[in-house]
Amino acid sequence: MAKILVTGGAGYIGSHTCVELLEAGHDVVVLDNLSNSSEESLKRVQALTGKSLKFIQGDIRQQQDLDQAFASHQIDAVIHFAGLKAVGESQQIPLTYFDNNIAGSIQLVQAMERANVFNLVFSSSATVYGEKNPSPYQEDMTLGMPNNNYGYTKLVIEQMLEKTSIADDRWSIALLRYFNPVGAHKSGCIGEDPLGIPNNLMPYLTQVAVGQREKLSIFGNDYPTQDGTCERDFIHVVDLAEAHVLAVENRLTNTGCRAWNIGTGQPISVLQIKNTFEKVNDIVVRAEFSDRRAGDLPSFYANNARAVAELGWTPKHNLEDMLADSWNWQKQNPTGYKA
Ligand code: NAD
Ligand code: WQD
Repeated sequence: MAKILVTGGAGYIGSHTCVELLEAGHDVVVLDNLSNSSEESLKRVQALTGKSLKFIQGDIRQQQDLDQAFASHQIDAVIHFAGLKAVGESQQIPLTYFDNNIAGSIQLVQAMERANVFNLVFSSSATVYGEKNPSPYQEDMTLGMPNNNYGYTKLVIEQMLEKTSIADDRWSIALLRYFNPVGAHKSGCIGEDPLGIPNNLMPYLTQVAVGQREKLSIFGNDYPTQDGTCERDFIHVVDLAEAHVLAVENRLTNTGCRAWNIGTGQPISVLQIKNTFEKVNDIVVRAEFSDRRAGDLPSFYANNARAVAELGWTPKHNLEDMLADSWNWQKQNPTGYKA
């Protein structure tokens, strides 16, 4: 069993990963500045699992926060979720994104070197395949330039980590390229709790369903897809969390830098999401078609064969599970973690 430092562990994917790490018997130390999350998620993680974790409120850009975390705990590996992730916002304030995501990751890797910890799992994204690669995306494709600054930070960090591992073979790094994470823990105790107006499809849709927003705008219905709306590879957050446990365990016994796609491999359209959500949850979601959103690709999805073969990972949740669990979380927590 290992002791894992989880940066950004209070967030959506981080909190679900903490549950799976604790249930697999690992010790967990979370470092999060709570800029996009609340400590309540970690209280619930501990209540759910009946196990405790250590929480440090700190920032990955602060050397002393990192050094103190490594000095106080015998860390074996790091799972690095901490980062800003709003695509639109990254176009308005690029330097904030470069500082938080890129400079923050450099600080983290340097602190790991100082502490002699060389096992790292990084939250990457399918956005690193750029705009020109055909789906299904495969890990050995030449990466492309993402069309937004958020995606650009993921590409830069991936490349930086790869070069670091080439220069020093003590490093063992996993690049997990997530597709579109949705869903929530089956209990409904933890889930996605975006600040302000959600940018992403699923939290927007569930907020419409719970009566917090008037209607869902479906961005574009004239794409060259099965029904004219965009297609994405939606992945249940618990399957994604399990991939992190497998990846971190894999890194403890391997070296080098390796990328894995974490998606189901199934393209699902936005309209299919809305219609299936209504059917599974027996609820009507007000929606209308509107203009395309700038920067959206018509369709992308994963080839996940490498993660299946090398990590022994298989997604266990189907689309109905994803939509039932998203709704279960939102219904039980209409205002998220806020009382
Ligand atoms: P999230 O915002 O819920 O979680 C990120 C966490 O990092 C938050 O708790 C936030 O407070 C923390 N954080 C941000 N900057 C920090 C800093 N400087 N120091 C310490 N903590 C900091 O987001 P999420 O959806 O859980 O995403 C986790 C990671 O996965 C992010 O790196 C994101 O870019 C990546 N990712 C997310 C998606 C997605 O669709 N959710 C897809 C691909 C990749
Ligand atoms: C999905 C589909 C929209 C909202 C983004 C990042 C990516 C990754 C995941 C994050 C699109 C449509 C959405 C709405 C809609 N990383 N939509 N109405 O854009 O595929 O991916 O999040 O960390 O890097 O780019 O996800 O959920 O925003 O959109 O019709 O109100 O839903 O047009 O086709 P996306 P999304």
